[in-house]
Amino acid sequence: MKSILVIDDDPLIRKTLSSHLARQGYEVRTAEDGQSGLSLQAEMGPDLVLLDVRLPDLDGLEVLSRIKDLGNRSRVVIMTAYDDMKTTVEAVKRGAFEYLVKPLDFVALDFTVGKAFQVKALEEKVSYLVAERQKEYTIDNIIGRSPQMREVFKLIGSVAVTRTNVLLEGESGTGKELVAKAVHYNSAWRDEPFIVINCSAISDTLLESELFGHVKGAFTDAVCETKGKFEIAGKGTLFLDEIGDVSPNLQSKLLRVIESRDFMKVGGEKVLKTEARIIAATNQNLRSLIEAGKFREDLYYRLKVVEITLPPLRDRKEDIPELVGYLLEKINRELKQNVRKVPPEVMAFLAEQPWKGNVRELENALTRAVILAKGDVVLLEYLPLDFDDRKAFARELVSLEAVERDYIQHVLRAVKGSKTRASQILQISRPTLDKKIKDYNLEV
Ligand SMILES: Nc1ncnc2c1ncn2[C@@H]1O[C@H](COP(=O)(O)OP(=O)(O)OP(=O)(O)O)[C@@H](O)[C@H]1O
Ligand SMILES: [Mg+2]
Repeated sequence: MKSILVIDDDPLIRKTLSSHLARQGYEVRTAEDGQSGLSLQAEMGPDLVLLDVRLPDLDGLEVLSRIKDLGNRSRVVIMTAYDDMKTTVEAVKRGAFEYLVKPLDFVALDFTVGKAFQVKALEEKVSYLVAERQKEYTIDNIIGRSPQMREVFKLIGSVAVTRTNVLLEGESGTGKELVAKAVHYNSAWRDEPFIVINCSAISDTLLESELFGHVKGAFTDAVCETKGKFEIAGKGTLFLDEIGDVSPNLQSKLLRVIESRDFMKVGGEKVLKTEARIIAATNQNLRSLIEAGKFREDLYYRLKVVEITLPPLRDRKEDIPELVGYLLEKINRELKQNVRKVPPEVMAFLAEQPWKGNVRELENALTRAVILAKGDVVLLEYLPLDFDDRKAFARELVSLEAVERDYIQHVLRAVKGSKTRASQILQISRPTLDKKIKDYNLEV
C-alpha cells in the first residue's frame, strides 16, 4: 500500500489531511513535531512525507535535510504557511519534491500527491530498466568456451578497467557490438552513455555533424545548433561501427580528435573537449584498406591500442551446442514459445554448417525453426538451409534413428496421414507406428 506521513503541529490539518488521503486509499500516519516525525519516518519508511516548515521543536528544513541525509526513498513535499519564496527555494535545494502553500487547496494537494507517486513509479521503472540493461551485457551473455573466445574474454576484462581505444575486428555477425557493450557495461563508466554510430549508413556530411554537432546555419538544413555524439558521450563510449567506410576527410578529423581530444562543431569556432572512449569495429580488413590507400595508417594505430579479433563461428564449432541452447532460450522467451528440444542429428547438422553470417545467421535460422515448429522440437526441415545439403547430410552422417524418423515422416506425408497405409508400407503394427509417431513427435 502507498504510504504517506504527515508532519504538522496543527491538529486540524493532521485530521483533515489524514481522512482526506485515507479516503483515497493511502496508508496515512501523522506526527505533531519534528522529532516524532523523524522517528516515525524511520519506522515506516513512507513513500511520501507532507512536511510543515514551522514546527515547535525543529525547523522543517532541518527535518527535510535529515530525511534526505538518510538517503532513503521518501519524497518530501513541503507545506509553507505563506508564499515564502526563500524557504521554498531552500527546500528545493535540499531535495524537496514540491511545495504546497497554506491554507491548503485540496485540488493542488491531490495533484501534487498524484504526481509524486507517478514520478516515483517512473523512477523505479527506470532504475529497474537500467539494471536489466546492465545485466544484459554482462560477460555471461557472451557464449563461448573455445580457446579463441577465452582470449576474447580476457581482453574484455583487461580493457574494461582502462579508457584505451579498442578496435574490434571480425566477420559480420560475430558479436562485435555485443563485445563493445560488454566492455562499456563492465567498466567504471557504465552509467555514462554508450552511443552507437554506424559510419556506413549515412552520408559524409551528416556523419560529420552527427559526430561533432553543428552550429546554426552551418549548412542549408542546419536550422538550429546541435550537439555531436562526441559531446553527448561524456565519459562514456562512442562505438564507431563500420569504421572502414569512413571517408579520408573524416578520417583526418577523427585522428585529430583522438590525438588532441578537442574538436569543433561543423561551422563553429569554439574548441570543445571530449573525454569519450572510442571503440571502433569493422568487418573489413583494415590492413588491406591501408595498402590500397583507403585507410590512414596513423588512424589505424590510434584506434587499435587494443585489438580484439572475433573468431568466425565455423572456427569454433565446439561452441555451437551451447550457443544453440542459449539462443533458443532467448528466442523462446522473446516469442513466448517453448521449442527447446534439439535432436542430436539436428545439433550435428548445425555444427557442420559454414555459417557465413556467423552467430547472427545461426540465431535467424533458429528463430525460423521456432516459429514454424508444431511441437517443442527443432526440426531439420524448418531450418532455412539448402535442402540438398540436408539430404546429403542425412545419407552420410546421421544416426539410424534419425533416418528412421525422417523416413517415417516421409511415408506419412506420402499417404497424407493415413496410419493404416503407412503401417502397411512400413510393415510395422499400428501400435508400433503410433508409438514412433509419439516418440519422434511426427506430424500426421
Ligand atoms: N558469443 C555470442 N554469444 C551470444 N550471442 C552472440 C554471440 N555473438 C553474437 N551474438 C548475437 O548475435 C547477434 C549478432 O551480434 P553483433 O550484432 O554483436 O554482431 P556484429 O559483429 O556487430 O555484426 P555486424 O558486423 O553484422 O554488425 C546478436 O544478436 C548477438 O547478441
Ligand atoms: Mg554490428
